Amino acid sequence: MSIDSQSGSELSAEALAELVKLSTPKHVAIIMDGNGRWAQAQGKPRVMGHKAGVKMVRRAVSTAREMGIGSLTLFAFSSENWRRPDKEVTLLMELFFTVLQREIKLLHKNGVRLNIIGDVSRFSQRLQKQIAAAEAKTIDNSSMTLNIAANYGGRWDIMQAAQILAKKVESGEMNSSQFTEQALNAHLSMQNQPEVDLMIRTGGDYRISNFILWQAAYAELVFTDTLWPDFDECAFKQAVATFASRQRRFGLTGCQIESLKKTT
Ligand code: IPE
Ligand code: IPE
Ligand code: MG
Repeated sequence: MSIDSQSGSELSAEALAELVKLSTPKHVAIIMDGNGRWAQAQGKPRVMGHKAGVKMVRRAVSTAREMGIGSLTLFAFSSENWRRPDKEVTLLMELFFTVLQREIKLLHKNGVRLNIIGDVSRFSQRLQKQIAAAEAKTIDNSSMTLNIAANYGGRWDIMQAAQILAKKVESGEMNSSQFTEQALNAHLSMQNQPEVDLMIRTGGDYRISNFILWQAAYAELVFTDTLWPDFDECAFKQAVATFASRQRRFGLTGCQIESLKKTT
């Protein structure tokens, strides 16, 4: 038996069985929401929430490594967050810069590969250089991949891949019939990583806010009221436990899934 995966590639029975049996997700994506409200609840400026949030990023990375999660993708700044007041955007950019500078050594020491996803061309030259240097330093690391989504939008990701293919068709490098799901998939961010198994959103809202769309087509969604600066190791493990308790069906029936689980 085989099914079409969300990326359009055929999935063998073995691969499907592996997916339905997965108790630790291979790829977790987190919408780290609630920093501003966390700070405001304590009468502090919103930026204090972002600073507190950084500590939890470090915690989340170490928890993910400990759990054997291969890819962790964190939503740091969306393509829509430019709409925020200039002051907050500037502070977030500064924070991003200082955190990158400060954390890269520890990430490297721990064998983490850092990958920034999103349209970085809108960032300052200084920040772009910092990003390129951090990515280059950790490129050969393999204990875990940490994707930081910065100026990222799920629609942007699909569009930039579609544009690459459209240009190839235009130049005659490929036919329009080769403009397939697999071809598009190969040009998306994180194309060499497993698709998202688990997407978590902190902060109490129930939406995706233009985060990963294509690569999360079959992700389990876990929403929690916990605000990001309070999302500790225990809360992360709880979300993974929720994932493990779900029956992922990929279009099959529950009965088919149960018999697949019995296969070795
Ligand atoms: C998420 O926290 C972090 C970013 C979007 C950068 P928010 O800043 O959205 O916090 P709330 O949702 O306003 O509480
Ligand atoms: C999503 O949070 C973006 C990040 C966590 C970086 P937002 O706070 O921007 O999302 P909305 O505006 O509530 O949908
Ligand atoms: Mg928010």
